[in-house]
Amino acid sequence: MKLVIGCDHGAVELKDSVKEVIAKEFPDIEVNDVGTFGTASVDYPDIAEKVCAEITSGAAEKGIVLCGTGLGISIACNKVKGIRAALCNDVFSAKMSREHNDANILGLGGRVLGFGPAGEIVKAWLSTPFSGDERHQRRIDKMMALENK
Ligand code: RB5
Repeated sequence: MKLVIGCDHGAVELKDSVKEVIAKEFPDIEVNDVGTFGTASVDYPDIAEKVCAEITSGAAEKGIVLCGTGLGISIACNKVKGIRAALCNDVFSAKMSREHNDANILGLGGRVLGFGPAGEIVKAWLSTPFSGDERHQRRIDKMMALENK
């Protein structure tokens, strides 16, 4: 599986920690890091656009986005057609965002989460499949139809 990851300056350290967790726990996942890589201030919508482009083009199946709170970058991702970004700062939400919402992007807050909890959230999110349940698929279809209204 190919995964794209990106963050603003508020979450570079958490992004690096998340990449270490993925490398250790999911060695088959190929990670494409689209930045940012330093402490210089960047605008999270620019990173969101890069991450989403990798997914909508088919280059990556899933993504992880991080900013200070995880809010701005998740909201920005959800402006892009085909994206279902879920900001999850707990394990239960991470599991549900996959099982019920088939989220294709996970959002995390670099100034909200410690490395340990973030790692557990990422592990839960990456190892939980979409349930495939008809009622959840129906709701997802309705949700995605809102893009065209
Ligand atoms: C940047 O200072 C900060 O606004 C950003 O990382 C994020 O928290 C926005 O939602």
